[in-house]
Amino acid sequence: MLINAEDRISHIQPEIYGHFSEHLGRCIYGGIYVGEDSPIPNIHGIRKDIVEAFKNIRLPVLRWPGGCFADEYHWKDGIGEKSSRKKMVNTNWGGVVEDNSFGTHEFMELCELVGCEPYIAGNVGSGTVRELSEWVEYMTFDGVSPMAELRRQNGREKPWRFKYLGIGNENWGCGGNMSPEYYSGQYRQFRSFCKNYSGNELYYVACGPSGADFNWTEVMMKTLKTPGWWTANAISLHFYTVPEWNNKGLATEFTEEDYYTLLNLNNYTDELLTRHTEIMNRYDPEGNVALFVDEWGTWYDVEPGTNPGFLYQQNTMRDAMVAAISLNIFNRHSKRVKMANIAQAVNVLQALILTEGEKMLKTPTYHVFDLYKEHQDGDCIYCYSQNENLAEGKNVPMLSTSASVKNGVLTLTAANCSLKDEAKITCDVCNFEASSVSARVLTGEVHAHNTFEAPEAVGITGLKAEISGGKLTFTLPACAVAEISLK
Ligand code: AHR
Repeated sequence: MLINAEDRISHIQPEIYGHFSEHLGRCIYGGIYVGEDSPIPNIHGIRKDIVEAFKNIRLPVLRWPGGCFADEYHWKDGIGEKSSRKKMVNTNWGGVVEDNSFGTHEFMELCELVGCEPYIAGNVGSGTVRELSEWVEYMTFDGVSPMAELRRQNGREKPWRFKYLGIGNENWGCGGNMSPEYYSGQYRQFRSFCKNYSGNELYYVACGPSGADFNWTEVMMKTLKTPGWWTANAISLHFYTVPEWNNKGLATEFTEEDYYTLLNLNNYTDELLTRHTEIMNRYDPEGNVALFVDEWGTWYDVEPGTNPGFLYQQNTMRDAMVAAISLNIFNRHSKRVKMANIAQAVNVLQALILTEGEKMLKTPTYHVFDLYKEHQDGDCIYCYSQNENLAEGKNVPMLSTSASVKNGVLTLTAANCSLKDEAKITCDVCNFEASSVSARVLTGEVHAHNTFEAPEAVGITGLKAEISGGKLTFTLPACAVAEISLK
């Protein structure tokens, strides 16, 4: 392996380590928000243990309220006195009643408590231009106006600050089944009326492609530019790692072959980002428009006995490997990729945290975000690993790596994807004077996971690593993810 600290590729925006929270199943209700009267320790209804866990991984950005839910969400139903908030049916996710007790004020308080950037996904599919424009006014205007007055009546004198505004979600699917040509017109209209108030500067995110829909990217890049300026700061890509849509299988039950097949698909993220970036480079060589991967992660069948509409799944070392590979890929693509949000933060899909009543556990995926947090705001540097392919006919390199430097510290993250062999690593570290090294590792049998009975079965431990004469040496066990820190 070779690292060259002087070969800086791009800056790693902290938002690459972002998260997603939708009104879906028990992500918000029960997961993040339990209400003020709950015996579970909370701050205005927001679980304290969740806030602490989010802070520990320096969660940089949180996307809300959806997902598909966003294009059915009417923000005015989620403000004011809770007992008089309108109830609605969550048609996308289990047909349950949404009581709107978690709305704008609650979400913004959560972001303040965690210290993260809010990312609001606006309703284009079933909303109006006026509705979205008024939401922005409600949240950010400091002067005298109908929406600013309404906010004050609801107890918030000062406006909030927020940057990231998504104009719709998956408008090629649940957000309205639109063609790219139709959506790009809608986008430009909605965007025109979402203004910057009182010094707040919005960062506009247009709906991007689903996976390999390169035509969507092409049309968006063609139409987002008006003479002299880009109407969007980013387009968003959604890509899930799904075994097979009609036969997903359970998170905890899979064969070795299933594991390598899933990793093969996960590694495709690299090609996907390369190809979307190539299209974007043709229209925007200066890099004015970023690519956000604002939904990614594994998607399996729900845990037996749970509501199929709630997308609740367990999370094993297999998911940790997917997270490790994905985050290394995002680091390496950080010239164009400026945000990525795993789906989802709590109790849904590749969740970082699972809850059951007052109990809470951190999944293997959570620990990967812990191991990788030092990359946030670093500069991605050249890192090459000679590799062996683990599965015939598939693209599954044994090692997945990325490295960055920040404030005189070099951080290397490395995953050994083999289920059998340890990896003895010798790495030449060029152009970096290191006098000390420390390392942490997450490892376990690939099906290993945490349960409410054994919440710490899988966790981070120390790893032995040495540096001498510019040579770094360490051994990664099979199925392991590590963080190596050089100073
Ligand atoms: O994350 C679950 C769903 O997946 C989201 O609501 C939607 O945007 C995507 O299809």
